[in-house]
Amino acid sequence: MNPLRFSRLPTLAVLLAAGLATSVGLAQVKHGKARPAKTGALMKGIVKPHCGDLKKALETAPANDEAWEEIGTHASVLNEMSYTLMEDGRCPDSVWADAATKQLRAGSADLLKAVEAKDHAASKKAFGTLAQSCKACHEKHKEKH
Ligand code: HEC
Repeated sequence: MNPLRFSRLPTLAVLLAAGLATSVGLAQVKHGKARPAKTGALMKGIVKPHCGDLKKALETAPANDEAWEEIGTHASVLNEMSYTLMEDGRCPDSVWADAATKQLRAGSADLLKAVEAKDHAASKKAFGTLAQSCKACHEKHKEKH
């Protein structure tokens, strides 16, 4: 290896670490870094309505294909939201990341599988995982009013 280049490696590592620290520091919780949508608006306009409709739709066994399709629609939207919540510097820590990925994302993905199989019990179980994400993230990151 070129010795001059090699000597620059530690500097590069320091710069990388500083860059990482800066990007973590810029995580904004209430909104992302560049995109204008506020977290509260995404919650009120997308996450809450789809979660509420899902809860209602799963109270009894879905009666027909249309009812299953509706559940699949809500689950798809919430699955995408799990990605949005992780983008644009919005995510501040592992509590947020776990809630968004291990609960909201994994729960909604399992729900989509259960919809595919038209399995009501599995759908309710997956919804339970998805719904745990709300409390998990809010306990640390949503201000109490
Ligand atoms: C990864 C983090 C995270 C997850 C997961 C999450 N939320 Fe939120 N939510 C927030 C944050 C942060 C706020 C506060 C935003 C603010 O104060 O500007 C919030 C606020 C809200 C609000 C109040 C919005 C308003 O401005 O009126 C509602 C309603 C809400 N969330 C519903 C839900 C539901 C339902 C779920 C679960 C399906 C959920 N959230 C999952 C982070 C999350």
